[in-house]
Amino acid sequence: MKRTPASYLPPITLQDREEIPIYQQLYDWFRRAITGGQLRPGQRVPSTRNLAAELKTSRMPVLGAFEQLLAEGYLEAFVGAGTYVARSIPDDTLSRPAEKARNGLQETVEKRGPRRLSRRGVALTNLPAQSWLDNLGAFRVSLPALDHFPIGVWSKLVARNSRKPPKGIMAYGDAMGYLPFREAIAEYLGAVRGVRCEASQILVTTGSQQALQISAQVLLDPKDRVCMEEPGYPGARQAFITVGAQLIPIRVDHDGMNVAEILRRGRDARAVYVTPSHQYPMGMTMSAARRMLLLNWAARSGAWIIEDDYDSEYRFASRPIASLQGLDTDGRVIYIGTFSKVMFPALRLGYVVVPTDLIRPFSAARDATDIFSSTLYQAVLTDFIEEGHFARHIRRMRMLYMDRRKTLIKAIHSQMKDMLEVIGAEAGMHLVGLLPRGANDVGVSRRAAQRGISAIPLSTCYLIPPSRGGLILGYGGANSHQIHEGISKLRMSVHRDDGRY
Ligand SMILES: Cc1ncc(COP(=O)(O)O)c(C=O)c1O
Repeated sequence: MKRTPASYLPPITLQDREEIPIYQQLYDWFRRAITGGQLRPGQRVPSTRNLAAELKTSRMPVLGAFEQLLAEGYLEAFVGAGTYVARSIPDDTLSRPAEKARNGLQETVEKRGPRRLSRRGVALTNLPAQSWLDNLGAFRVSLPALDHFPIGVWSKLVARNSRKPPKGIMAYGDAMGYLPFREAIAEYLGAVRGVRCEASQILVTTGSQQALQISAQVLLDPKDRVCMEEPGYPGARQAFITVGAQLIPIRVDHDGMNVAEILRRGRDARAVYVTPSHQYPMGMTMSAARRMLLLNWAARSGAWIIEDDYDSEYRFASRPIASLQGLDTDGRVIYIGTFSKVMFPALRLGYVVVPTDLIRPFSAARDATDIFSSTLYQAVLTDFIEEGHFARHIRRMRMLYMDRRKTLIKAIHSQMKDMLEVIGAEAGMHLVGLLPRGANDVGVSRRAAQRGISAIPLSTCYLIPPSRGGLILGYGGANSHQIHEGISKLRMSVHRDDGRY
């Protein structure tokens, strides 16, 4: 029989009145807690010795109360295994009060209707319900090949760092992050991404999302204007909305974000959010000419550039292009990266490279948010990087994702040629397939989700509804079999039951 482990008891208050003996008070308390649902069937209760010590009473009344509860079937004892709330309670009033309270609350909520939220709170919930994110099946965007992750090496490093950890790993740490980790990140970014920085400029975060959130908090005031790529990353949009910023959509074309449009329409913008290495979601790379134009504009106008370099490790056809941050001579670029794709998303580790004069406000904002990231995992990842596992893993995954991308494109060509037009550079872990004109991509994604397929509708990345919808398809986490099966399910999802889009 599966039992719930020893768990928390709600507080027991004993009255110091002689007319109700302690054993009776205890018996009544347990009976009420069991029938009221505060103690669950199968839940372990403390030993009489521990309970007596906790209540600062002698053991006798506790033994008396337990004996009666056992005799009446509210508790059951197992020799050597402790005492538990009985699985089948004799009283048919079991849990009713708790259930009633729950139902009552539900009724009140329904009667009362929605309560007042802040404008930002309302704006945050304006995206449609995202049923396509409910499963981890084929084409889930941002899902790496978890079954290819070197979990053996990783768990050894976790064990090594957890065994007799020094104080520094268990106590409060620096808001900017664990120094050896920041040193390893600075070295990696300098070598691989042409980022120019010192370890002191690295702020470790719980992924890019927090990096975006903190950047928005530090750099923007309510109503400040922010230029966003159109289409662009909804996560960034959400982060800017939480500080009350106004978003200006700037179209992307085959050279990335159209900087000339920023010069025309975004003159007074405080910041620009951009994914120059691999535009999200469309997949193009920003041209060198546009990069220089953007940097010059930012230097002249005093705007910030928030560079989200979320998956640049994976380029298949050409060498990675150096970051905007590396070309910046005016300290205008806030460079953001993540370990979600190169390691795994639940690790929740990312970073911001902060211009030197912004280190204090960024550090203070992190401190005010959640102080710092888990030092244990920062230390484990430092070892993983320094011992060469990181570089090896990225090399392996680059080959694997290149293959998976080819497999996906082939499967689309053979099964959905007339339904999906593939676009995007040979990079990253996702591609975009444009649907035929007139197709409702949200509807397609919903139908696909019912078949266990995750495909993000392209239109959710737009601020202004696009004339043509599409699907964002991740291939990192799907093997060849899942890709083929996924594409045939997707094909069945494009049309409604009546055959129309
Ligand atoms: C453009 C972009 N930035 C950042 C991220 C990663 O976010 P995080 O590091 O918070 O997991 C993603 C993940 O999908 C993304 O698509």
